[in-house]
This record gives sequence, C-alpha cells and structure tokens, in this order.
Amino acid sequence: PLAVVVLISGGGSNLQAFIDAQQRAELPIIIRSVISNNADAYGLERARRAGIATQVLDHRTFFQREQFDAALINLIDQAAPELVLLAGFMRILTPVLVNHYDGRLLNIHPSLLPKLRGLHTHARALANGEVEHGASIHFVTAELDGGPVIAQARVPVLKDDDANCLAARVLIQEHRLYPRVVRWFAQRRLQLNAAGIPELDGVKITTPLL
Ligand code: GAR
Repeated sequence: PLAVVVLISGGGSNLQAFIDAQQRAELPIIIRSVISNNADAYGLERARRAGIATQVLDHRTFFQREQFDAALINLIDQAAPELVLLAGFMRILTPVLVNHYDGRLLNIHPSLLPKLRGLHTHARALANGEVEHGASIHFVTAELDGGPVIAQARVPVLKDDDANCLAARVLIQEHRLYPRVVRWFAQRRLQLNAAGIPELDGVKITTPLL
C-alpha cells in the first residue's frame, strides 16, 4: 500500500472517506499519520478511532509561516509518506514546503477551479449566480489553489440553496472524488510530469477528468 499523511484542520469528513475506502479494501493506502494545525479538529477523533497516529502542530505558536512550514515538513517526513493529502487543511503553504513535496502533494478545493479560489466558495458561488458548482482535486503548487487540476465533480445550484446546503451537496461528491484520485496515484497511474502537467496512464490531463 501507498504510505500517505493526511493534513486536516476541521471536521475530517474527507479523511473519513479515505479511512472508509481503505477499510473496504477499495483504496490501497496506509495512513501513517494525520496532522492538524488545530487541536480541536474533529478529524483527529476520527483518526484515533481508526487507530491512526495523530499529531497537532499549532500554527499560532510560530512567528512566521516559514517556521511553521519547516516544523510541518519535519513532522510529515518522520512518517516518510509517498503522498501528502490536504483534506480541509486551511493554512496557506510556503513555496519551500510545496516544492519539497513536488508531485506528491494533493489538495481538494470546494469549487470548479479556476473559478473561486480561496475561501467561502459556496457563498460566493451563490452570490455570483452560478448554476453549477463543485469540487476540484489538484496537485499543489506555490500558487494558491492554482495547481494543475486532475479531476472535478459538479453539482447543480438549486433555486432555494443557501451556502450550507450547497456545501453539503458538494461534500457528498468530494467524498467520492478524492478517494478515486488517490487510488489512481496509489496504483501508480497518476503522476505529475516534468513539465508540471498531470498524467493518467501516461496521457496528459489537459481538461479536468470527471
Ligand atoms: C471541504 O469542503 C474541503 O473541500 C474544504 O474544506 C472542507 C473540509 O471538510 N477545503 C478547503 O476549503 C481548502 N481551502 P472536511 O474537514 O469535512 O473534510
């Protein structure tokens, strides 16, 4: 199985989707560690329940982002993962960290990238009058939410949606999408090529897979 580390900040429902898929033998990974920047993250409880090692690295105890990221690299590398998964990890990462994990760092973002980078994507989708919304999995680069997109899941925006119910509809799709992409990586079918373009089975991904 592929050794992974999962980084979270909150509820950890995407982490749970990995755990569930792994336990159903649908995802050949071993989660070596779950790291949170927030000691209260419910996802830490999910990890403990599944018997996974957890660590907390509180960003508020560091003066600079660079120092936090140096400590984070140290912690991650203790687990020697082949892949690092950002799953609701709500910290901006410095180029040093991103480059350290070049080609082996994935993120899920709750929008149809390149639309709606950054925070509060569901409220912004509604405010923009979007008729369609969703989630994207991408390789992480130094540009915030700007790395090359691998796959997306789409949901309709419905007439009476508020941000919460739209978020819930997207989250259901996230839980299907993210394990599927990680499975490709674990099967050595997915990689970032030397030009920084994702490839699945040796074919460049130029438009996001669905
Ligand atoms: C998910 O919707 C994820 O896409 C989003 O946070 C949520 C985490 O939920 N990520 C970001 O906004 C990244 N900037 P979870 O903790 O239940 O997996």
